[in-house]
Amino acid sequence: MNSLKSIAWSEGRLRLLDQRLLPHEVVFIDYVDHNDVAVGIREMVVRGAPAIGAAGAYGLVLAAAASTAGTAHDLQADLDHAAAVLRAARPTAVNLTWAIERVITRAAQAAASGHQAMRAAVLAEAQAIQDEDVRVNRQIGLNAMPLVPDSARILHHCNTGSLATCDYGTALGIIRTAHEQGKRVQVYVDETRPRLQGARLTTWELQQLQIPHTLIVDGAAAHIMRTQGVELCVVGCDRVAANGDTANKIGTYHLALAAAAHGVPFYVAAPTSTIDLSLSTGDNIEIEERPAEEVTHIDGRPIPPEGIMAANPAFDVTPASYITAIITEAGIAYPPYIDSLAKLVGLARTPAASKAR
Ligand code: MRU
Repeated sequence: MNSLKSIAWSEGRLRLLDQRLLPHEVVFIDYVDHNDVAVGIREMVVRGAPAIGAAGAYGLVLAAAASTAGTAHDLQADLDHAAAVLRAARPTAVNLTWAIERVITRAAQAAASGHQAMRAAVLAEAQAIQDEDVRVNRQIGLNAMPLVPDSARILHHCNTGSLATCDYGTALGIIRTAHEQGKRVQVYVDETRPRLQGARLTTWELQQLQIPHTLIVDGAAAHIMRTQGVELCVVGCDRVAANGDTANKIGTYHLALAAAAHGVPFYVAAPTSTIDLSLSTGDNIEIEERPAEEVTHIDGRPIPPEGIMAANPAFDVTPASYITAIITEAGIAYPPYIDSLAKLVGLARTPAASKAR
């Protein structure tokens, strides 16, 4: 498939595919200002944890290019300021902070060579983050293959494909790898209220990949498990705590509960960049609360009577006890996650692994 990339860097501009308009309109927006990139991340022009990480990194490239600083010290201060703006755009996905920290660290390492060398280093690091993401996703897909039967009905939540990443996808990358390897996969696609990433984006990607799929409303998942049968659920993640508790798109927790009730394995696809060992449990993960209008309105039209209260937590935390395994590019983690995740993160960060990334 010649997929449309969610993110591209060309001639000093960051080009984002406007995911708010998909699948009916394909529109790109070019960015030259990091403040606008932060707005684009917040308003979900670009979304999905790995994709917003890469967009944040390129936001810093734009900040470095726009800075009039004539010394390494002043450029570092401008970058730190831009980093704070970008980091604040969305709080739950750790990939945004992770990518920004990587770029800031690389800039600081280049500071001794002067401000121009720093600008080059910032661009090189953003490009490395983008390139690595694709390799990591492909490896997650390959690592997961022993868990996917030759014939499998798979339930998927939100969108975790090319659009949510720099290409290929994580959980959707697993489905894609299985299909590429000739396994017979049939995907049940949760529509994923309220932003409908499943209905709008995952179906669009699966259609282009010619992978059989059926769209369902989120509330149908348990019914489908009970009446049709599902071999596995696979989802992505925005932040995984050291004990395996996993933040992902709202509705993931309730899918995991339904899977447990029906004896269906529940897998999380997680690049190690999404694992946050600094948080001991999921209770410490900040959950983004988004505007109530996303719940009360559909296509700009109000649904409930005016003046009602609506809560819109964008993510939930699935306790580790409901997660059968966490699939990373460094291998598969099984419970107890406190040991297995630390080991895989350590492996991914060894110099040999970083060369392969
Ligand atoms: O609000 P979104 O669309 O950015 O949420 C995306 C998800 O929850 C994905 O499952 C997660 O970021 C993993 S994407 C590979």
